[in-house]
Amino acid sequence: MGHVYRAKHIESSREAAIKILLSGLSERKDLVFRFEREVAALKAFTHKNIVGIYGNGVYSDQHYYAMEFIRGTTLRKCLKHEPLSPFAAIHVARSVLNGLEAAHERGIIHRDLKPENVLIESFRFGQAIERSRVVLVDFGLAGIANGSVDPHPNLTRSRVTMGTLNYMAPEQHIDAKHVDHRTDLYSVGVMLYECLTLELPMGRFALLSERGIDVPRALDACLVRALSTDVKDRFKTAREMNEALKKVAMEMEARRGSQLNLSFDSPQKASSASSASKTALPAKESQKSNLSEIVMTHLGNIWPLKTWFFGAGALVLLLALFRFMKH
Ligand SMILES: Nc1ncnc2c1ncn2[C@@H]1O[C@H](COP(=O)(O)OP(=O)(O)OP(=O)(O)O)[C@@H](O)[C@H]1O
Ligand SMILES: [Mg+2]
Repeated sequence: MGHVYRAKHIESSREAAIKILLSGLSERKDLVFRFEREVAALKAFTHKNIVGIYGNGVYSDQHYYAMEFIRGTTLRKCLKHEPLSPFAAIHVARSVLNGLEAAHERGIIHRDLKPENVLIESFRFGQAIERSRVVLVDFGLAGIANGSVDPHPNLTRSRVTMGTLNYMAPEQHIDAKHVDHRTDLYSVGVMLYECLTLELPMGRFALLSERGIDVPRALDACLVRALSTDVKDRFKTAREMNEALKKVAMEMEARRGSQLNLSFDSPQKASSASSASKTALPAKESQKSNLSEIVMTHLGNIWPLKTWFFGAGALVLLLALFRFMKH
């Protein structure tokens, strides 16, 4: 429906992204309505996990709005070659849920969550995803509860045929107009599963533990709940799902900590812990724990050597002083 351009505000030199409704579409009242609804949804609030809007207008019959430029990439691109580490996947899901919590509180339902609409900001090359800002964009399908009645009911149906079906909750397939915020929680479940497996959870999907992914069982339970076909079985709010994922993250953090402690304790225990962690963590993570293991082992060897060295030096100095005083 639109094109997004990278732009620079001439006076302030500030970078911006400008979304322009495709020329020729300004005649289409339904699309103009959708575009304006996107602007209204974004203008409603500022939140670090939702793209900020600078302004909007019509120029030469073309509708546009300007928003902050997110320097980074889409979640889709991050998933091109390998799954995310469990830490990164949970960070992304929790950030999305943070943004959704704010949107849902204002009666805004995104309705089109998918990896293309999640941006990962990175300031420097190689920045870990688990430390990056995650930003939601594309509120073009946002439903505004208690807001103006949608005069273009076919809007969402047309989007259904545009290929975002896989992320939509079952009730959205049936009646896209009358869904509530829990439809977004389903989409977050799909994205989280995809982030960890690169596959979509279709039908009776395999749990992470069944696939041999070593994550706390509680994460399986979170996914099952988020992906329930019956809305009533899902998390009630974005905050509730966020809290559940926070507990999973804490459990993973505690495991990581105890693995490192083990490697401190004894080299033998450390090597068995590290082989366990190789299955538990994706490549980069296991490299990290191997590295800390190596550093720790080396520190263990180096410090006694240093102690001997300084001890011997001090003794030589003392002897020299003693001889000097004797003369
Ligand atoms: N604020 C932004 N900063 C940087 N890149 C952005 C920004 N907004 C969008 N993009 C890029 O442009 C792409 C398309 O943006 P967006 O999802 O809003 O449009 P769209 O999918 O074409 O929308 P529509 O469904 O309305 O046609 C995004 O996937 C992202 O790569
Ligand atoms: Mg999009």
